[in-house]
Amino acid sequence: MRNERILMVCLGNICRSPMAEGLLRHHVQRGQLDVEVDSAGTANYHVGEEPDHRAIRCMKENGIDISRLRARQFSVRDFDDFDRIYVMDHSNYQNVMSLAKNDSHKAKVKLLLNEIDELSNAPVPDPWFGDMSDFDAVFNMLDEAAQNIVLRLAASK
Ligand code: 4NP
Repeated sequence: MRNERILMVCLGNICRSPMAEGLLRHHVQRGQLDVEVDSAGTANYHVGEEPDHRAIRCMKENGIDISRLRARQFSVRDFDDFDRIYVMDHSNYQNVMSLAKNDSHKAKVKLLLNEIDELSNAPVPDPWFGDMSDFDAVFNMLDEAAQNIVLRLAASK
């Protein structure tokens, strides 16, 4: 299989998308696949910051260290640098699509939870204003979606 490049996108790049990045990388490594994984936020509020401490803690409790990740803002260049761009919710979808320059760019943008149920168009809820139980719920959704991505990539190898 050719090297696949996958970008996870949320609003701040400190809660959902770094968790999604860590989980997808974890499953990619377990499956010994050749996939590059990164994440970004549509906003610039937290550029350069480490993930939210609750996201770090939730991931650490599940054996995955994301403490060294640093937030960056999504850029138009990402449309060319990545094969797939997974967004967490409809607002991320609108923000990313508004930057697309052509149909090839637009075709790369997908709602992440459609990897669990392709017709659901369900969002990954933003846990920023929530508590640890919200981060745990987000973890479970992201984990299932990441596993499905890896299973499909492995099947198409
Ligand atoms: P994320 O969560 O998009 O999952 O990283 C958020 C983080 C920060 C803010 C909003 C959402 N904020 O408004 O600063």
